[in-house]
Amino acid sequence: MITNCCNMLKGLLGRTKKIGVEEKGTELNRALGAFDLTLLGIGGIIGTGIFVLTGIAAANQAGPALVLSFVLAGVVAGLASLSYAELASTIGGSGSAYSYSYASMGELIAWIIGWDLVLEYVIIVPTVAIGWSGYFQNIMQNIGFAIPDALGKSLRDGGLVNLPAAAVILVMMFILNAGVSHSARTNRAIVFIKLAAILIFIAIAVFYINPANWHPFMPYGWFGHDAKGLPVGIIPGAAIVFFSYIGFDAVSTAANETKKPQRNLPIGIIVSLIVCTILYIAVSGLLTGIVSYKELGVAAPVAFALQKIGLPWGAAIISLGAIAGITSVVLVMYYGATRLVYAMSRDGLLPVGFAKVHPKAKVPRRIITTIGIASALVAGFFPLHELAELVNIGTLAAFTLVGINVAILRRTQPNLHRPFKNPLGSIGALLGAVASFGLMLGLPGLTWTRFLIWLAVGLVIYFAYGRYNSLLAKTNKVIR
Ligand code: ALA
Repeated sequence: MITNCCNMLKGLLGRTKKIGVEEKGTELNRALGAFDLTLLGIGGIIGTGIFVLTGIAAANQAGPALVLSFVLAGVVAGLASLSYAELASTIGGSGSAYSYSYASMGELIAWIIGWDLVLEYVIIVPTVAIGWSGYFQNIMQNIGFAIPDALGKSLRDGGLVNLPAAAVILVMMFILNAGVSHSARTNRAIVFIKLAAILIFIAIAVFYINPANWHPFMPYGWFGHDAKGLPVGIIPGAAIVFFSYIGFDAVSTAANETKKPQRNLPIGIIVSLIVCTILYIAVSGLLTGIVSYKELGVAAPVAFALQKIGLPWGAAIISLGAIAGITSVVLVMYYGATRLVYAMSRDGLLPVGFAKVHPKAKVPRRIITTIGIASALVAGFFPLHELAELVNIGTLAAFTLVGINVAILRRTQPNLHRPFKNPLGSIGALLGAVASFGLMLGLPGLTWTRFLIWLAVGLVIYFAYGRYNSLLAKTNKVIR
């Protein structure tokens, strides 16, 4: 019995795709240089994290020491990004870490990562949309059309439904269903708008610092628990603001469209992360310097801080920049979610019919519509920080596996052509895995429970459906 189980497990883990079976994309135009990649990274990275979660994490987790949380989260993201870049350039494929593990660690692990990424991508859309809604409502209020709490906040935040958050997703759903893709030019314009908003904030805020706001600097220490038993401190703060860094993987998925990927990919990833880390440290330091961290747990904290120091025009500029910037993140993440589910359906692990491409619009409308409706509902009814925690635990779990994946592949297939190699080697990849897992430990128990339930549901689906319908199993004529 035990031997049978072991054999079955071995068989399942061993069912790997051949590297090169995934679309390598060599026919794609290699047009992107280091500068484009850096902009791509910044376009996907800067959004709800810096504009909203900064305030929540300062008020509830870290206090002014939030700057240290940003440094910590930035290091974890940096380590993971190097492993991502190696797998993206070596294996490629439209399903990100799911595709990489299918080719190296086998179908079961690929499914677990894929299912975990579905959680990340599908929940990230409503999370970012709630951030968007906060700034949208801030502007509406300033021009005299305040949206009542009942229609602007979820039940647990003191309202009924967050209508603007749900609405922005539904608008995106129509845009994606029409087959419009995000163009590099639009991305470039939006990146400049959001960078301008952040730089304007920095330029204004330096003149309004009250150093008293930075005392006490570490009100919650590195790691502890509050009265409700929830984790607080710099490490749990990092586990929340880690959300701000998600999105750099957009750079690694462009590996096949990059000129000289060995040189440009790491530049794009590392430079975009460094730029964002510096901006994040500056913004979080200034934000907690111009108003007390205790007041920052609001829906649009950066605009709120400027209002508080008597600069409503500054708040309006920031709100407009935040809205433009966050809109592009919603679109990029929504698009990413559809690509991932598409890859998994095409492989037969989710129903193949789901991946049907609309003949005219040339997009998988069933997937776009299902994800759109599901995430609009989530955006309407759940609080921001709980969703962000769930996204983070899913992403960090994927990063942990990606690091392990790099180390395994280097051992099992040392001669594979690797256009980009993690300069820190297997040890660096494993260090990234350990750091990601360490940050997961900073998240609340309830988030862990939800995450484990999600994984358990995924395993049931795999053993009841995916295992038998996997295209790989069918073409190999074996279901082990
Ligand atoms: N990093 C992205 C954001 O902060 C997901 O919105």
